Amino acid sequence: MENLQDMKIPRHVAVILDGNGRWAEKHHVPRKLGHKAGCENLEQIVEDAARIGISYFTIYGFSTENWKRSAEEVDALMQLFRFYIGRLKKVAMDNNVRVKMIGDRSRFDKDLIDGLNMLETVTAENTGMTFILALNYGSRDEITRGMRKMAEDVAAGRRDPGDITEEVIGSYLDTAGIPDPDLMIRTSGEQRLSNYLLWQLAYAELYFTPVYWPDFHKEHLLEAIEAYNKRNRRFGGR
Ligand code: IPE
Ligand code: IPE
Ligand code: MG
Repeated sequence: MENLQDMKIPRHVAVILDGNGRWAEKHHVPRKLGHKAGCENLEQIVEDAARIGISYFTIYGFSTENWKRSAEEVDALMQLFRFYIGRLKKVAMDNNVRVKMIGDRSRFDKDLIDGLNMLETVTAENTGMTFILALNYGSRDEITRGMRKMAEDVAAGRRDPGDITEEVIGSYLDTAGIPDPDLMIRTSGEQRLSNYLLWQLAYAELYFTPVYWPDFHKEHLLEAIEAYNKRNRRFGGR
């Protein structure tokens, strides 16, 4: 592997963590232990990403479609989120990381919403990496919520339809103010976006690895960044 100093570090890396269930199957343990291992890995990789020098690191933790899983699995995930909010707070404070949530948090239980709000508030003044947690996130839901709000602004006379630009649309999304991802990584061998950052990933490099999320460590993140460095980035020009 090349030296970290010689590599261009992407400003924003967005990850679809996947394969917790298959990791559990491989280890002959219940699925929820796969999710637990996934949360433990998340704690570590946030620290690694901050140390590598990534400025924005987004993780897809729970999708708007994931509510369709069994009640038992959804409950187990909610319990893990509750517990890991406290752990993430420590990791964030120790590493000068600012935490921001995207997605519709209103569907979670009140104590979880309070915990997520607290995580954003207590880390708001941190000046290092921004860690963006996508929870109850779906790109189509995000765009729908944003466009509803924009339509309200137009109807109320606060916005002129003729002034709607790509930047204006971006400002209505949960990611307002956050630069688009340069690199998108999906673990576990699946090669689809599963409703993740559809607008924001327009020009991202896509990287797929067969490694299951609980086994995805710093060396794999560096491999992805190395592959990114070998790509010829284009934005439609020649
Ligand atoms: C990702 O792992 C975690 C969530 C989507 C919450 P999965 O639970 O999707 O794992 P697989 O795809 O079944 O292996
Ligand atoms: C995508 O993974 C959602 C998250 C990682 C939170 P899934 O495992 O839910 O996606 P599909 O069902 O394979 O598309
Ligand atoms: Mg999956």
